[in-house]
Amino acid sequence: MDNSATTPVDRRVVEAMMPYLTEKFGNPSSVHFYGQEARAAVDRARREVAALINARPNEIVLLSGGTEANNDTVLITVMLANNEIGTVQPIAEIGTLVRELRAGGRKYLWLHTDGVQALGRMPVNVETLGCDLLSMSAHKLHAPQGVGALYVRRSVRLAPQNIGGHQERERRGGTEAVSMIVAFGTAAALAREELDARIAHMRALRARFEAGVTERISDVIFNGDTERRLPHISNVSFRFIEGEGLLINLDMQGVAVSTGSACSSGSLEPSPVIRALGRGDELARGSIRFSIGKDTTDEDIDYVLEVLPRAVENLRRLSPLYQQAIAERACTAV
Ligand SMILES: Cc1ncc(COP(=O)(O)O)c(C=O)c1O
Repeated sequence: MDNSATTPVDRRVVEAMMPYLTEKFGNPSSVHFYGQEARAAVDRARREVAALINARPNEIVLLSGGTEANNDTVLITVMLANNEIGTVQPIAEIGTLVRELRAGGRKYLWLHTDGVQALGRMPVNVETLGCDLLSMSAHKLHAPQGVGALYVRRSVRLAPQNIGGHQERERRGGTEAVSMIVAFGTAAALAREELDARIAHMRALRARFEAGVTERISDVIFNGDTERRLPHISNVSFRFIEGEGLLINLDMQGVAVSTGSACSSGSLEPSPVIRALGRGDELARGSIRFSIGKDTTDEDIDYVLEVLPRAVENLRRLSPLYQQAIAERACTAV
């Protein structure tokens, strides 16, 4: 239940990358056969990644992941979809605004969006979005960690972040991680092929999960937009308890979840995303992100629905705030 943090590598992706970890070990910049074999694999993967977002292959800069792709410096940047609550932002509308400003003389105004959570979970089309740059990470797409890409619209000139080699059209020097790129390309092709089915599957499982939570647990609040939301995330605030306590309790029963994002875990601060929704500190501290994947099953959801109410109940029994609320409710009822 933590597919927003990362996803298991698809068996088909492992099969595709294995030859590039063994006999096909060439450097794509080498002129000989080994090099050309690796170059062809990188180019094939680049085409698959481009096709996933309706871009051209030469608009894709392959790199190490979402964090590296997000390191741009002068631009408007708004996430395509939030990683804690899944809310989808109106990038196409912002894109229209940016184009109008550009037509009015603001020549150097670029729109960047972080598409890391959105990719493989909603259709992503750079032409419809009107963005100039879009960050992607393979490990949210059932490929390994450490590879990703930045889409760069052909009208944008980027200063290279890594200098020293001519790779990636002089935008990112350094020998390509061929097997990882092949994995990313394969994952992109599979995501494109299976997108509709994956969305329908995750949406159905989330509905089952949210219906079960609503039925079995009192004092819960679902965070984020209910309509404009990625299909795989359900962010829930459980009143009267600390999210960290619930996370540890669920972990002991084999259920992996997050409070906030994986990159900010370890911070004791309540989630800034939930606070920005105006929920207040108590609900921000009591929030948990459940995130479903393409391989999550009905049985997985049912198991969570079996252990979660018990875990919440046990923690609430220890909570003075909950006991006080129960007492106050009883008085009001009388
Ligand atoms: C929205 C978002 N952007 C960027 C990243 C970072 O990507 P990477 O781990 O590939 O650096 C993540 C998650 O890790 C994310 O959820």
